[in-house]
This record gives sequence, structure tokens and C-alpha cells, in this order.
Amino acid sequence: MELTPFLQRELSEPLYSQLYYWIKKEIEEGRLLPGIKMPSVRQLSTHLKVSRNTVEAAYQQLQSEGYLESVPKSGIWVAEIEKPSMHPNEAEHPVMQECKPSREVLVDFEYGNVDLDKFPLKQWKKCLSDAVGQENNWLFEYSEKQGEFELRREISNYLLQSRGVRSTPEQILITAGTQTSMALICRILALQGNTVAMEEPGYSGVRSVFEDQGCQIEPVPLGKDGLSVEHIQLSRAKAVYVTPSHQFPFGMILSISKRMRLLKWAYQTGGYIIEDDYDGEFRYRGQPIPSLKSLDEEERVIYLGTFSKSFLPSLRLSYIVLPPSLMDHYSRTFAVYNQSVSPIIQRAMALFMKSGEFERHIRRMRKQYQRKHQALLRSIDQYMGTKVKIVGEKSGLHILLKLKGVSTLELSEKGLQKGVKVYSPMNFWLNPTPEGNSYIMLGFGGLSIEEIEKGVRLLASCLREVEIGE
Ligand SMILES: Cc1ncc(COP(=O)(O)O)c(C=O)c1O
Repeated sequence: MELTPFLQRELSEPLYSQLYYWIKKEIEEGRLLPGIKMPSVRQLSTHLKVSRNTVEAAYQQLQSEGYLESVPKSGIWVAEIEKPSMHPNEAEHPVMQECKPSREVLVDFEYGNVDLDKFPLKQWKKCLSDAVGQENNWLFEYSEKQGEFELRREISNYLLQSRGVRSTPEQILITAGTQTSMALICRILALQGNTVAMEEPGYSGVRSVFEDQGCQIEPVPLGKDGLSVEHIQLSRAKAVYVTPSHQFPFGMILSISKRMRLLKWAYQTGGYIIEDDYDGEFRYRGQPIPSLKSLDEEERVIYLGTFSKSFLPSLRLSYIVLPPSLMDHYSRTFAVYNQSVSPIIQRAMALFMKSGEFERHIRRMRKQYQRKHQALLRSIDQYMGTKVKIVGEKSGLHILLKLKGVSTLELSEKGLQKGVKVYSPMNFWLNPTPEGNSYIMLGFGGLSIEEIEKGVRLLASCLREVEIGE
């Protein structure tokens, strides 16, 4: 057993985190080379005299970051990292190549995919072609920096009707995805070097932007009704990023009392709330939840929307609704940047919205996703019963499953052997906890009902096998 990290129990840093950083460093500095087999969770926990949970949490995190790779029926290996100097000769690690998972993936519960079956491809293609065919010479020019006016007007109308957001087209900026929106907001609010609060766990795509922009991230714990507002009140946060309509990834709704307290915090401190309403359209029980922005009376909420869930992720089309006071700052400082979303896509989307197709699409998709969602819950209930608990089940395109007595790592490994791919949400924690290693994330937007049922049946059989130690 070559792995002998110095773990210090007296430190406030949890043991799994110390172990995780130690192994990561060994890999990065080339002492643990690709193709080396890691000790099993049981072996290492016995060797280090720590719990299995500790080792599992560290391994899980390293796997989700790509440092380790789990090979069915073989074990856990140090993965190939794209650093040529680390493993110049692939032939040195033949074992690794032999052990790559050979099983075809039959059902992939990847999050982020959308429904193909009912997608209005014909209508969308027509809008694309009409956009290009429009009679004037805009096609041969750069577009408006803030985004096409027609599209901003359609978005402004849509937001009022469907999300209760009052805005003018002048306040809307078109962006190429939520991360682009966030990078711009960080600069408009001058967040560099300042504290920003976000839900823990929360969307890693946005966390990466905060890190990259040099912000200090304050992770805010979650209660049953969303993030802890007291925590924000006690922090030095200048802005808070939040997913109030459908917390990512846990799925709870921010309660009305917390919404009011959060707004009050912003009014009193001059802080900003960045509301990411990424899938607010898809709620399957009860009334749609109005946006937090619709309650904002002092223009402290910056609202983010995206077409990735409601239409197509490949468009890379999203938007920001900025408070008018920030628009001045934007115009003075940032309007030197050209628009990064193709005007062809923007104009086509404007036509699609104007013709009523977008609203029809949303209505159709809500029903379609509801059917899939019901099939998912029904199959889990039928095949897994009380062995798992469903977390966040009323909206959106994913759910979490809380596992009992089985770890994420064990189930995902077993799943791969049987051709069903599930995902760990571990990456969504800034400070991963062993608890994070007891969830799996199931995205269902791009799967058919048959695939969903098949996937859950396969997972249930994996659970049984892991439980009896097969
Ligand atoms: C919380 C959250 N916000 C936003 C997005 C969409 O990002 P984008 O607009 O870059 O596609 C996602 C997609 O996974 C998400 O989970």
C-alpha cells in the first residue's frame, strides 16, 4: 500500500477533503501515474483507519473531476489526464486500455438534453430560412450590440406573460449562454475580489465563472424552503446568485417569506440578487411559481433566462434583464463589445416567438415532460420502492435520488456494467460532504418513456446486486 497521506484529525478541514487534495496532488505531480490501480475503498479505509464514507467521498470527487476512473469489474484507476509530459508512452499502461468499460450504454440519464420527438423542427427551419430571406441588407452587417431589437421585444412580452417580469426591450441584453451572462454581470457589478453568495450545493457552471473572475464565494446552506437568508445577512456578500423557482440541483422552491427577506436584504444593503430562472417554464404540479424579479420593487434583482431548456441548448441563446440603473453603466462601459450570438439565430427566434410557435412549443413540452416525469416517478416507486427517496420532484428536467445504504460510486459503477449511466451531483458542492456521495442525479428530458422505464428497472437490479454484494 503506497498511499500514506498525512491526515490530521485535529484540523477543521474534513478528512475526506484532506485525502482528496492529497491524491489530486500526487496525480498532478506525477507520483501517481495513469494506469495505476487504486486500493479499493475498503482496503484504503482499513489502511488509513478512516471510515469508508471518507474514502468514498474523496474517490467520488476525484472521479467526477476526471482524476480517477472506475472500470467495471476491475476497480478504480488513475485516469489519463491530458498532459503529454505525464504519460508520454501509452504502451506503459496497457492494463488501463484492456479494462475500459466495454458495455454499450443503453440508457443515459444525462442532464441537459431536451426532447427530440415533439421538437417543431419544420417550423424552426422555416423561421431560420425566413430570417435569412428577409428583404434588406442586415445579413451583411454586424448586429445591434445589445442584441436584435425584435428578439428583445419578444422576450420582454414573453416574460411579462409567463414569468410576471416587467421589463422593456431596452433593459434586455442578449447573451450566448448563462456563463456569458454571469461573466458580464461580474464585470458590471465589479465583483472581482468581492464576496458573492451562492447556494450550496449550487450550479457549478456559475461557480466556475465566479472563481475565474476572482470572486470570494460564500456557500449558503439550504433548508427545505431554499437558501438560508440569515447566512447571507451575516455575510459580506455584495451579490447573491440564486435559483428560486427550482433550486439547482435539489429542486426546492424558495418560500415567499424567504423571497421577501432576501429582497429586504438587497434593499437595505444595496446588494444585488442574481436570479437564474433556467427552467421556470416546466412545473408539473400546482401553479407556476412567479419569478423573484416580479416581486422586486427597488430594481435589485438581475434576471437571467436561457433558451437551453425551453427550446434548444445548441442555440447558445440566453438573456439578462438588467435594472435600468445598471443599463447606464453597461452602455457607458461595455457597449464597446460586439454581440456574440449570431443575428441569424436571433432573428429566427424572434420570428418563432412572434408566430406563437414558441408558446405552443412550451405548452406541448410541458405536457411531454410531465408524462416523462410521471413515468420516472412511477417506475422508481414500482421498482425501487423505499430503497431510495426522490428529491425535488415537482418541476424541471431532472430529479435527485437519495440512496440508502449504497453509495453513488457503487451504484454508478454497477450501472455501467448493466448499460445504464447515472451521474453524481458531487461536483455541485463547493465543499463536498460525504452526504453528497449518497445522491444520484437523473436527467430525463432527452429520454423516451420506454427508455426511462428500462433505465429505472436496470438501476433497481443494480441496487439489489450491490446490496447483496454481488
Ligand atoms: C442552474 C442552471 N442555469 C443555467 C443553465 C443553462 O445554461 P446555458 O444557458 O449556458 O445553457 C443550466 C443548465 O444546465 C443550469 O443547470
